[in-house]
This record gives sequence, C-alpha cells and structure tokens, in this order.
Amino acid sequence: MIISNKVLAALNAQVGMEYEASLKYDAIGSYFTLEELPQLAKFFFKQSTEEREHAHKFIKFMLDRDAQVAIPAIPAPPVTFDSPVAAVLEAQASEKKVSSAIHSLYELALSEKDHATAIMLQWFITEQVEEESTIRQMLKFVQRGKESGMMTVEDYLVDAGEGGKSDK
Ligand SMILES: [Fe+2]
Ligand SMILES: [Fe+2]
Repeated sequence: MIISNKVLAALNAQVGMEYEASLKYDAIGSYFTLEELPQLAKFFFKQSTEEREHAHKFIKFMLDRDAQVAIPAIPAPPVTFDSPVAAVLEAQASEKKVSSAIHSLYELALSEKDHATAIMLQWFITEQVEEESTIRQMLKFVQRGKESGMMTVEDYLVDAGEGGKSDK
C-alpha cells in the first residue's frame, strides 16, 4: 500500500523534529561542557545520538515503503541557556512537543487506514514514555543539585553510569 501524501508529509516533518531534537541536545551538551559539568554533557550528547537514530528509523521506514524522503529545514537550537535547570527544561519541552507530534501522526495513520505506519509508530509512542520519564528524572536531579551544588548531580551520574535510567 502506497503511503498517502498526508502521512508522507507528516513522516517527513517528524524526521525534521527528530533532527531538531538532536541539534538541541548537542547545544545542551555543549552548554554543560562549557559549564564544566562533563557527566551532564555526556548524557545530553548521548541523547543527541539517539534522536539522530530516531530520524534514521523514520527515513528507513519511508524508504522501505518506496516513499520520497524530503528532509525539511531544521531550526537552529538555542546558543546557550540561563542555567542548568533552564537547559533541562528546554529538553523537557522538546520531548513533550515530540510526544504530541507522534500522537497526532498516529491518529492520522489510523484515519488514513495506514496500519503499517500505525504499527511502526507504536515503538515511538513507547519510547516517548521512556524519554519523558528520563528527562523528568534528570530535571529533578538538576533542581536538587541547584540547592545542594551541581557536583552532587555529577557524582550521581558517574555512579549510575552516565545517566542511569536512560542506559537500560
Ligand atoms: Fe526522538
Ligand atoms: Fe527524545
């Protein structure tokens, strides 16, 4: 079954969102590197790689369906952030935006009776639950770190092995 134009446009837009998230995480990783918080930097650079893998998953799916990949222009990420908490809040907002875009895409696939796309998206729906949970945990660490000193967060991340929960 050929992908409808509507679903194809939404899939290409989603590739753009995954790359946008990847660039944002590179910006956040860079910010933490310059703040001399290497474990946080490592966590966010790893997230950046994961987002790139998500983009590739969508691209591969489109190619498997013999559809035209058309990667949109990717908005530039913020250059810097006001604080560690602000940087993680930015990541959280990004994950929430991606979750709602994937849910809309899933609804579109169902309404277009595109079952293959709907089934492929189930992986992403589950992944977003995990991603939002990981970021919520990170936000709590960093908010706590603000009170007790950011080095506490760094020590925890070393003990947990670069970002703990996201490693599973
Ligand atoms: Fe993603
Ligand atoms: Fe994500």
